[in-house]
Amino acid sequence: MKKRFMALAVASVAALALAGCGGGETAEETTAAAAAETEAAAEDAAEETEAAAETEAAADAEVANKDKPLVWFNRQPSNSSTGELDMAALTFNDNTYYVGFDANQGAELQGQMVRDYIEANIDTIDRNGDGIIGYVLAIGDIGHNDSIARTRGVRSALGTGVDANGAVNSDPIGTNTDGTATAVQDGTIEVNGTTYTVRELASQEMKNSAGATWDAATAGNAIGTWSASFGDQIDVVVSNNDGMGMSMFNAWSKDNNVPTFGYDANADAVAAIAEGYGGTISQHADVQAYLTLRVLRNALDGVDIDTGIGTADEAGNVLSDDVYVYNDEERSYYALNVAVTADNYQDFTDSTKVYAPVSNQLDAEAHPTKNVWLNIYNASDNFLSSTYQPLLQNYDDLLNLNVDYIGGDGQTESNITNRLGNPSQYDAFAINMVKTDNAASYTALLSQ
Ligand code: BGC
Ligand code: CA
Repeated sequence: MKKRFMALAVASVAALALAGCGGGETAEETTAAAAAETEAAAEDAAEETEAAAETEAAADAEVANKDKPLVWFNRQPSNSSTGELDMAALTFNDNTYYVGFDANQGAELQGQMVRDYIEANIDTIDRNGDGIIGYVLAIGDIGHNDSIARTRGVRSALGTGVDANGAVNSDPIGTNTDGTATAVQDGTIEVNGTTYTVRELASQEMKNSAGATWDAATAGNAIGTWSASFGDQIDVVVSNNDGMGMSMFNAWSKDNNVPTFGYDANADAVAAIAEGYGGTISQHADVQAYLTLRVLRNALDGVDIDTGIGTADEAGNVLSDDVYVYNDEERSYYALNVAVTADNYQDFTDSTKVYAPVSNQLDAEAHPTKNVWLNIYNASDNFLSSTYQPLLQNYDDLLNLNVDYIGGDGQTESNITNRLGNPSQYDAFAINMVKTDNAASYTALLSQ
């Protein structure tokens, strides 16, 4: 438009100048003006075509960041005090999902596993013979609904839970060797006609001074403190995860033959079952890591979201419904959990192996490479770094996704969001928040 205006202006100035020389408009002058105008028009047309082509290419390649596929994983957008799901984050756009595991089913399994162990070993478990089965509990993150569920699961199964607003109280109690804490109660277990008391001797959120939760080193220190003051009362050690559980096992319980229970089925914990680690829960990270990337792949391909999940894809990838559930209202995929004990641990020794039913390579032409930004909230989280991320790295190849892995410090959201400076470089996003309340710090960046 601008060029055309200038060409016309030049033509008129020329015409005026000629006119100023006296005499009327000559044929020559008219021709010059007309030629200038034709030229301008041609230029204009060419420009318009160019612009149209540009717009079309942009529509093809440039999806607005706010409309790109987004998956939350491992930490479900939710209120850290009430557990209420953050539906605004979960429905951020039409291609937004959460991938995690069924926290309640897993928590129930963990509690049952501990109880089964106590019952099966009742003749030897009470180390000081006082008739009380004492346990200590390492809590991961009091504001993380998966951690809360596990604390509740253990307390429910052992009869030590008390009600708080319609659910089992999940607060840490500090120490309770005398059984007077109000956030828990003494439970009972009856085996072969004998009734035993079960007591939560101590529990604590394992958060380090810098603010990192699920902190294994903190748990290792805690068992040191606990065992120094009431060690012979501790018959069982329970942890919200294997990272903390193994830290306690290595620091104390292994040498003292005290069964220790965790969660995650990390390879080191599974191997430790041979050395007396009591057991763990597989949260089917092999299924979760697949789902995390698969929902993005499907959204990018513009196919039904169930492709390669509940419905086999052309390569034969499909999940059976005994390993996951999808809750449409919550926009959430939940993997199902399996208890791993001395009975079956041999099947779980390789925690980073892709799940066979979804291990088929996608065709690179039908599913061209796309770029994904993915973060791990804490680069030194045992489960995420030793189990989940290696699995993601196996699946990204199978799904033709080029993933940038960003590792956070586990404490500050901005440490991660600062590294989402140019979302336009990516086709899709996979997010693992530091704090489950903080989804908006990410969606704000995508909405800019
Ligand atoms: C795992 C923990 C991990 C946490 C991180 C949980 O699902 O069990 O081990 O620290 O996720 O968010
Ligand atoms: Ca005892």
